[in-house]
Amino acid sequence: TKIHVVVPAAGSGRRMQSAVPKQYLTLSGESVLSHTLKRLLAALPALSTLTVALSPGDEQGRALLRQLASDYPGKAITTAPGGAERSDSVLNALDALRDVAGDQDWVLVHDAARPCVRGDDIARMMAVLSETPDVDGGLLAAPVAATLKRSDSEDCIMETVDRQQVWAAATPQTFRYHALRQALLKANEHEISVTDEASAMEAVGAKIKLIPCQPDNIKITWQGDIAMAEAILKSQ
Ligand code: C5P
Repeated sequence: TKIHVVVPAAGSGRRMQSAVPKQYLTLSGESVLSHTLKRLLAALPALSTLTVALSPGDEQGRALLRQLASDYPGKAITTAPGGAERSDSVLNALDALRDVAGDQDWVLVHDAARPCVRGDDIARMMAVLSETPDVDGGLLAAPVAATLKRSDSEDCIMETVDRQQVWAAATPQTFRYHALRQALLKANEHEISVTDEASAMEAVGAKIKLIPCQPDNIKITWQGDIAMAEAILKSQ
């Protein structure tokens, strides 16, 4: 089984309220996307392919990938067209892999906007998956520290959610090529909105292992997250 990495990086970053999409904000002198891709390449020496979904006309992304392809000559580093939703971007990347990926190959999907992911967490996820043959895949997730409330439509508390069994889903999320593609196609067909790959796999009844990761694997979403990510990178 080969290892493929897919990075959806075709978001417009609406919540960031910035002219620059969040994957191209500057983090410690380099773009967020550059940090993210270098971390993945370093964490997974065994990866065969890295496919990044880019918006049409994203020349900055193309230039970065050309550079990485020349820095990592043994790896197939390519782009795929971004889609309307994250799941469309991932499906386009999976389609681009059609001729090289085997049905049982692992695909790790990782957010472009998570540059602080730790290599040892990724390595542990791959080890857990190979030692646990009865699961269909897994994802990095952080235990939740906050006290969680469920609210009604008037923002009044209905209940406190037991955080013992609550996790904040992160990425990478790792599934078999064929199963992931089928699950995403099915979610599309039934117009189920999925904000991560695990949601699509859950909907088809997959058994998915949560692998604890450091809570500093943050997704850059809001303006203040850049300063936080810089502090995290310094501290790691
Ligand atoms: O917007 P959100 O934080 O959920 O985006 C998660 C990841 O999915 C980001 O890396 C973003 O670039 C990517 N994305 C994409 N295509 C879309 C929407 C988001 O590749 N249509």
